[in-house]
Amino acid sequence: MMIVSTIVELRALRARLPGPVGFVPTMGFLHDGHLSLVRQARQECASAVVSIFVNPTQFGPGEDLSRYPRNLARDQAMLESEDVDILWLPTPEQMYPPGYQTWVTVEEASNPLEGAARPGHFRGVATVVAKLFNAVQPDMAYFGQKDAQQVAVIRQMTRDLNFPVEIVVCPTAREPDGLAKSSRNVYLNAQERKAATVLFRSLSAAKDAFAGGERDARKLRMKMEEILAGEVLARPQYISCAHPLTLQELDIITDDALLSMAVYVGTTRLIDNVLLQQEM
Ligand code: PAJ
Repeated sequence: MMIVSTIVELRALRARLPGPVGFVPTMGFLHDGHLSLVRQARQECASAVVSIFVNPTQFGPGEDLSRYPRNLARDQAMLESEDVDILWLPTPEQMYPPGYQTWVTVEEASNPLEGAARPGHFRGVATVVAKLFNAVQPDMAYFGQKDAQQVAVIRQMTRDLNFPVEIVVCPTAREPDGLAKSSRNVYLNAQERKAATVLFRSLSAAKDAFAGGERDARKLRMKMEEILAGEVLARPQYISCAHPLTLQELDIITDDALLSMAVYVGTTRLIDNVLLQQEM
């Protein structure tokens, strides 16, 4: 595995990689969710490139940028054993030099849900992913269903800006009790870790109701709310049943739908989602 920091070095090495090139952008502190993306890239592409960059522009004031977990030595070892070709470690100074002023804003898909709760978040995500795509020039790029709205924003950006990149979405990797794997799970104490299963429990209950024929989106949101209310350590920020592409809230489900939520467990903000598909 070659490890590079500057864009100039990255471009030089990238040019020599056999195609297709698969790319997995991350913020590090890797877990099985990230590795499932890397494995799929490794399987489907001749070459695999991974970036680790805790992108400051997608964190709001008062969010966890300064304490975002990091362990580069461990990440490096994990990627080495996945047979990654290039690990790219950009620096904030390189990505956003003094005088930086260009931003990518995906309008509608960025507005609701995570976008409403975290103003500016998707502007930071879309901007950094555009810059990463420009530098790596991948044929395929791998993203997790865990961040469903991020996928919608990146798909829209890729189409609108004509990036010749195929976006591949990989299923959410979970702990045995259903909790979605996340770098932020390390913030949870033992009691909170137990309580955190309430996200998947409430999503699963609503999914079961859907499988049983329920098509009233309001009733599914109420079902999730009810189960979340049973967990004293959990404080929901939003509970949604929306169209999976436009992310607009639904009244009646006529096609596919995305159930999603952001929930504070103690002071840690967790998100999770499940996709409802008509033919289940
Ligand atoms: P990060 O949170 O590090 O996640 C990197 C990729 O791993 C994202 O595509 C995310 O959806 C995926 N991922 C995280 N947890 C997962 C899980 N449990 N199962 C499957 N995939 C999972 O998302 C970001 O970084 C950043 O916003 C980034 C795209 C790198 C731009 O800065």
